[in-house]
Amino acid sequence: MLLHRLPRSYLLWSARRGDPFAQMVIGPDRGLGSSHFMEEIRQRGRMHHMSGFSVTADHELCRLILRDRRFGVVTPNNQALPKPIRWVMTKTDLELPNLAEPPAMLVTDPPKHTQYRRLVGQAFTPKAIAKLRERVVEVTDDLLERLGSTPRPDLIGDFSEQLPIAIIAEILGLPAQMHSTLLKWGDTGAPLLERGLTWTTFHRAIEDLAEGQRYFDQHIAGLTAEPGDDVLSMLVTGGELTRREQIANAALLLDAGFLTTVNMLGNGIALLTSHPDQLKLLTAQPELWPGAVEEILRYDGPVRITGRVASCDVDIADQHVKSRSLILLLLAGANKDPAVFPDPERFDVTRANAAEHVSFGSGVHSCLGASLARMEGAIALRALFERYPDLRLNGPPIPRDLVNLNSYRSMPAKLSAN
Ligand code: HEM
Repeated sequence: MLLHRLPRSYLLWSARRGDPFAQMVIGPDRGLGSSHFMEEIRQRGRMHHMSGFSVTADHELCRLILRDRRFGVVTPNNQALPKPIRWVMTKTDLELPNLAEPPAMLVTDPPKHTQYRRLVGQAFTPKAIAKLRERVVEVTDDLLERLGSTPRPDLIGDFSEQLPIAIIAEILGLPAQMHSTLLKWGDTGAPLLERGLTWTTFHRAIEDLAEGQRYFDQHIAGLTAEPGDDVLSMLVTGGELTRREQIANAALLLDAGFLTTVNMLGNGIALLTSHPDQLKLLTAQPELWPGAVEEILRYDGPVRITGRVASCDVDIADQHVKSRSLILLLLAGANKDPAVFPDPERFDVTRANAAEHVSFGSGVHSCLGASLARMEGAIALRALFERYPDLRLNGPPIPRDLVNLNSYRSMPAKLSAN
């Protein structure tokens, strides 16, 4: 009720009054028309003020706020909400491993955050991830081989989902027979990153979260008795975390490890098949692939929005922000800021500064899996288009009904010209 019904009513009311942010998250063109709405928000100034929160699509402001320790992550307790509302939210906490709620590291401030991140950080350094390269190549080749004999291939379900889930499950030490269940939990849980959900969507997500919690509880109990050499064992044995902290961060690593990477691959395939000139460049100069992945992340990144709350009054880049103010940072808007990216609506795999995007966030919470995601992107997309050079989409890809996670549900394709 408090997390979704009230914001939903306010957003519906604001959308009817023509507010571009509300239209972007709840209007009839939600998600799809995001670029257009982000531009409208930018036209309204560096900070667009709404009731109870502000929104920015400004690249400099987004980066400064993400890197400034005076801003914390968004939790039910730190916003300028009326006291009774905060009290009810704390008392009705379901204590499920929701990736958008503490104690997942994504929504925990230092010093606790530092403790969580240290525990698993060394497994995700560029050096550690480079060691997984061969395995990523092997899994990709396997999937591409199978794709060739799939009657009606769907490049989301048969490819883009399969690589990231296989790799993150291996890193975490989760068995291959769990892949389809983990994907299902990801599918129902992804809407929890949104606000204004309907009761049915919220309820389905909560039911699957409870199932996930039971699974991780049992799995972690096993690791406590007999640790392996996987990342979850590091989380369980490396520090003095409570069982709740362990489960929340295990679930976060899993969800963050595939939900977003799937969409980087899907969005990349959609972009490259609709920009044959860019694909031609990549075929001629394969060394451009890592840069192409950065441009895909800039142009159509998987995460559109994050948020921060000021812990005190802050003056930042000519803006005054009051203590406890919530600022929504439009990462997708910052990535199209013409002050940083000239001709931002042009998809250009040779763009020199594409990597200045904020699709992996910035500051202490910057994406732990960025090196892994970049590697998976460059290997998988290159291999797909080299193996099937005549690949084309068999009809328009179907987007998921989400705003924050910029994603496709399915992408029917033809692998050869005939
Ligand atoms: C293209 C793929 C990915 C994108 C676009 C992405 C995006 C992001 C963003 C924007 C954040 C910061 C959010 C914020 O500051 O509010 C983040 C954090 C995080 N990401 Fe990723 N991510 C990707 C892949 C991965 C992968 C493969 C993993 C593997 C484990 C991962 C794990 C995490 C974790 C654990 C955090 C929280 C870090 C912290 O709070 O310190 N991500 N990601």
